[in-house]
Amino acid sequence: MKIIRCKDYDEMSAIAGKIMVDQVKEKPDSILGLATGSTPIGMYKKMIEAYKNGEVSFKNVHTFNLDEYYKIEKTNDQSYYYFMNENLFSHIDIDKNNIDIPNGQADDYQAECERYEKAMEESAGIDIQVLGVGVNGHIGFNEPEELLYEKTHLTGLTQSTIEANSRFFDSIDLVPTSALTMGMGSIMKAKKILVLISGKSKHDVVTKILGDRMSTQTPVTLLKGHHDVTVIVDDEAYNG
Ligand code: F6R
Repeated sequence: MKIIRCKDYDEMSAIAGKIMVDQVKEKPDSILGLATGSTPIGMYKKMIEAYKNGEVSFKNVHTFNLDEYYKIEKTNDQSYYYFMNENLFSHIDIDKNNIDIPNGQADDYQAECERYEKAMEESAGIDIQVLGVGVNGHIGFNEPEELLYEKTHLTGLTQSTIEANSRFFDSIDLVPTSALTMGMGSIMKAKKILVLISGKSKHDVVTKILGDRMSTQTPVTLLKGHHDVTVIVDDEAYNG
């Protein structure tokens, strides 16, 4: 794992934004794996800025998102579908047909998971997967467990994740308790992985990433088995 230390959230976002923009400049038909949550918002702002400055076009890019709440309507402002439009897609020239996000309103979740996994398998493969990390070490919604899933699946969210995500909702009771998420195998198939970590609350997770153990109880540590992972971590997350 390559660790890039930086001062703060803004610096993390600038470094990550440049990595993403350079990726698309080098390979305009890149397949990007994207994440939601607070962490990548600054990076998305940098990507939008680069597009608005005429530095890059996202016209031929394809995207897959890590996860989506289940069940949730696309029009719900807490859905990840809505989030991606608000924070990235509606500000750049991406072809809307090239965007894929697990469908949180599908009636048949099993069929939806199979469709999503197949779409990723039939693509040329994700060139770079962006990840945030939960305070409990989850990636996507692969929560700490003895046995993790390989492929896209329906999962329950742990209490700690529900509590962490409740900051976006009017009340904790409104936080969905399930989600559709890429599995660990789907994530590990990406050619490159970019992990963004900011803030004191992630310090414990950073300590585990820097250690030499891997555990399904801290899913992000399994990325140590991937050959091309870059972790960008700010001082608060690094020092605690
Ligand atoms: C989001 C996702 C989650 C978040 C994680 C961190 O698509 O898959 O794993 O990356 O919960 O969230 P933030 O960035 O809000 O701390």
